[in-house]
Amino acid sequence: MSEIVFVAKETDPNEGRVAASPDSVKKLKGLGFDVVVEAGAGFLSRVPDAEYEKVGARIGKIADAKTADVVLRVRRPNSAEIAGYKSGAIVIAIMDPYGNEDAVAEMAKAGLSAFAMELMPRITRAQSMDVLSSQANLAGYQAVIDAAYEYDRALPMMMTAAGTVPAAKVFVMGAGVAGLQAIATARRLGAVVSATDVRPAAKEQVASLGAKFIAVEDEEFKAAETAGGYAKEMSKEYQAKQAALVAEHIAKQDIVITTALIPGRPAPRLVTREMLKSMKPGSVAVDLAVERGGNVEGAEAGKVADVEGVKVVGHLNVPGRIAASASGLYAKNLVTFLETMVSKETKALALNMEDELVKATALTHGGAIVNANFEPKKKGDL
Ligand code: NAI
Repeated sequence: MSEIVFVAKETDPNEGRVAASPDSVKKLKGLGFDVVVEAGAGFLSRVPDAEYEKVGARIGKIADAKTADVVLRVRRPNSAEIAGYKSGAIVIAIMDPYGNEDAVAEMAKAGLSAFAMELMPRITRAQSMDVLSSQANLAGYQAVIDAAYEYDRALPMMMTAAGTVPAAKVFVMGAGVAGLQAIATARRLGAVVSATDVRPAAKEQVASLGAKFIAVEDEEFKAAETAGGYAKEMSKEYQAKQAALVAEHIAKQDIVITTALIPGRPAPRLVTREMLKSMKPGSVAVDLAVERGGNVEGAEAGKVADVEGVKVVGHLNVPGRIAASASGLYAKNLVTFLETMVSKETKALALNMEDELVKATALTHGGAIVNANFEPKKKGDL
């Protein structure tokens, strides 16, 4: 009998994505799995059940999860869902484990082998499994679309018989995956784009997309990248110098898009209320970091807030706002990862806990928490 992959319907009201596409189901079937898709799982990503059936999936109920050897999800399962999975099942999702140690412990107790896609190492072999990149890319695009929607003026310069509409000025803060896509998208819409980042490598990337780079380029800046290519938390002195430069720049901008994150830390505060006050009425700030504490003062998760006359956009789950595209890429990331867990000879699951990708992403296995970062805090721990 073949092993069963169950594709769950997401229960979070903000989640429109789904963990499988018709393409990924085809691939799963090719790997030798029986695929059961929970009825309606693809609805919000515009994949009707019939599309999954056409490529060989069976449409099932939530109770079918109990039979599954592998559960594919977008988000971490809740307690009721965990209780519905069999001990020993592999569960792969964007687990959001930081600060959710109790939920991780619950998965361990249930005997699940839980894998967090967002912990995938950023190495060449794992590029096609990198959910942070696939989802951030679309979030960067969507941030510009959301900004354009809130902005009461046009983005491109338009010269008409009735006069000229000036191009909007867009400033992107944080030029990682999301920021670079935001720059490219804003450029395509005809805006005049500038960007900043604390990683020196970003300077060239920003320039190559046709945007102007704005940063205090001192010695600290030149050394500001970790070996993994991520941002470091900058010194108080650097932050003050950078804030002064940014304050002057923001006063002249129409739209600010912030994407700045530091792994495992709260998002850096980059835009103050004072800076917002200096912008023209009806300006827009989109804070993609709002769920991690926010880059913009006054940003509210799940809301478009009016802060000093600026529309501060704090949508939750921005990749989920472009769910149909985001699901397609996410599903591909998942199936590529799952493929590494299947033996080519036997076409059966052969989980190798020593594999680099498995090691990096595993949260729980064999009844225990296997990533020390997510052990529940004991009394007395800080
Ligand atoms: P991220 O989502 O963690 O952060 C977004 C951006 O915010 C980063 O560029 C970061 O430098 C910037 N930032 C942090 N603090 C800031 C501050 N105070 N002011 C301004 N900017 C600030 O990063 P993301 O987008 O996930 O990736 C960052 C980098 O990682 C990429 O540009 C790339 O170099 C590397 N990467 C490597 C991959 C691979 O090798 N497979 C795949 C994706 C990214």
